[in-house]
Amino acid sequence: MNSQFPEYRPRRMRSSEALRRLLCETRFSPNQLIMPYFVREGRKVKEPINAMPGQFRFSPDTLSAAVEPLVRSGVKSILLFGIAEAKDAKAGASASKNGVVQKAIREIKKRFPDLLVMTDVCLCAYTSHGHCGLLNVQNRIDNDATLPVLARMALSHADAGADMISPSDMMDGRIRAIRQMLDQKGFENLPVMSYAAKYSSSFYGPFREAAHSAPGSSKRQISKMITRTGALTTAPKDRKTYQMNPANREEALREIALDIQEGADIVMVKPALAYLDILREAKDMFHFPLAAYMVSGEYAMIKAAAEKGWIDERSAVLESLVSIFRAGANTVITYHAQAAAGWLENN
Ligand code: PBG
Repeated sequence: MNSQFPEYRPRRMRSSEALRRLLCETRFSPNQLIMPYFVREGRKVKEPINAMPGQFRFSPDTLSAAVEPLVRSGVKSILLFGIAEAKDAKAGASASKNGVVQKAIREIKKRFPDLLVMTDVCLCAYTSHGHCGLLNVQNRIDNDATLPVLARMALSHADAGADMISPSDMMDGRIRAIRQMLDQKGFENLPVMSYAAKYSSSFYGPFREAAHSAPGSSKRQISKMITRTGALTTAPKDRKTYQMNPANREEALREIALDIQEGADIVMVKPALAYLDILREAKDMFHFPLAAYMVSGEYAMIKAAAEKGWIDERSAVLESLVSIFRAGANTVITYHAQAAAGWLENN
């Protein structure tokens, strides 16, 4: 240590706005934010999402209109989530050329060729049971049978013009399966952002309302199980057999290491604010491009408190984001992206 009080007074360097800005250790720009969008079938649709004030379900046509102010705000990347109309046990619609995400990609790339369009690859919005993977005859997650389905879904997004594929399902081995498929089909330069350390979190609640993707077991699924196996086994009601236990730190580092080995170009920690320690440790350990997902529940909490007048939305959002960057994230996926970009102008 150099000098101490009273010679050294840390408050000296906080005494003016100019000094505070001069010594600011963490800055971020709209270029580093990724805005998620929900896309559903139809035309002229713009449905508000209850638990996410200010967010909507768009049809492909209204989505590309919504992207315009985002692009003007300086945000250059979006992440698309599909809401499938046709759900079945095998996620049959997930790789359809005319699926809602595939259509949305084509529409957006036509109007905004320079916008980085990322797509979520996961089966939960396409399966009747709402799980991120297929189920076997015992109604358990069939990890290995899920991999080719995910790979075909990723390829269909690539064919439609996606700029990055982002698998969020947490099946083992899916980064390699997707990478191999993309490489075989001539997409060796298409990057993959892996949800590498994705926790089984209560903060996804509003998203599941938005995407109609909550896990449950449909009646049809159950009766089929009885006739085939003679015993009733219901599908799991939660995602704990594939998403991680919030208590685990070392496991997150193993998951991240595996995804880097399998060919991920960006690894992600999700959610963000309750997992800042994981972000810091992952950054220090791997020196690898790192994303953080500030999820729907994190968004909803700030919006709800702000609506009640209990918190200042602007400063709460900017403080949350700067903390996530300070913890080591290179990029943050956030529903606040457009608003934050507007507030950042004079940063
Ligand atoms: C799909 C998926 C989820 C989220 C992103 N991709 C939901 C889940 O795993 O249940 C959550 C995003 C958010 O809450 O904002 N697997």
